[in-house]
Amino acid sequence: MRKNIVAGNWKMNKSLSEGIELTNEIVSAGNLDENVQVVLGTPFIHLTSVSKLVANSSNIEVSAQNCSDKTSGAYTGEISAEMVKSTGAEYVIIGHSERREYFKESNEELAEKLNQALANDLTPIFCCGEPLEIREKGTHFEYVCNQLTESLFHLSKDEFSKIVIAYEPIWAIGTGKTATSQQAQEMHAYLRTHLAEKFGKEAAADLSILYGGSCKPDNAQEIFACPDVDGGLIGGASLKSADFIAIVNSF
Ligand code: 13P
Repeated sequence: MRKNIVAGNWKMNKSLSEGIELTNEIVSAGNLDENVQVVLGTPFIHLTSVSKLVANSSNIEVSAQNCSDKTSGAYTGEISAEMVKSTGAEYVIIGHSERREYFKESNEELAEKLNQALANDLTPIFCCGEPLEIREKGTHFEYVCNQLTESLFHLSKDEFSKIVIAYEPIWAIGTGKTATSQQAQEMHAYLRTHLAEKFGKEAAADLSILYGGSCKPDNAQEIFACPDVDGGLIGGASLKSADFIAIVNSF
């Protein structure tokens, strides 16, 4: 059975003390839907502190927003998957469109990052999604399937069963322009079928596919009601506890 997941991606926001304050508000809220896996995607330097704060919460875990494609060594400024795991984090976001665009991460490099995450027992939240010009050309299904083929299709079935996918159309990120629930549903269903061809129907049916892009308390319910949408990857609205909690409680 696939899980419902709501993951916050704080991006490069919140000082350590602000991150601790936000986490405390979420942990102490006491009204989070217990059937939802909640994930807090914090900057690297917050991981250890935030992991300690959520240690006693049965349904809250912590995620990094990236990890290195290398194991260890002379890569100044990089953070390995093993280091992420050692903080207490259980998840890592891989291949966010901002990393693909600003840091030129390729599908091949992201395949290596996935390997690192899986080798270190982290759950990857693998991001995919098309830019506006691809959507306007009408080739978005092929574009996103290709991202998955090039980064995921080397995985074994067992490895595949450990990952989470987030579909984030780039034109909907931080723009206030969310995909319609119909657009989200049709892409999620398409991706599930594509993945079923490689990994089998059962494995694809068990995969959680999250939607990301201007997901807010006032649209989460409609998007999460789609049969192939299993939750959300939340940017802006994850920075305010009340908004984030309302999204978690939108199933
Ligand atoms: P927004 O929710 O701010 O549009 O960001 C989405 C996102 O990029 C989450 O990873």
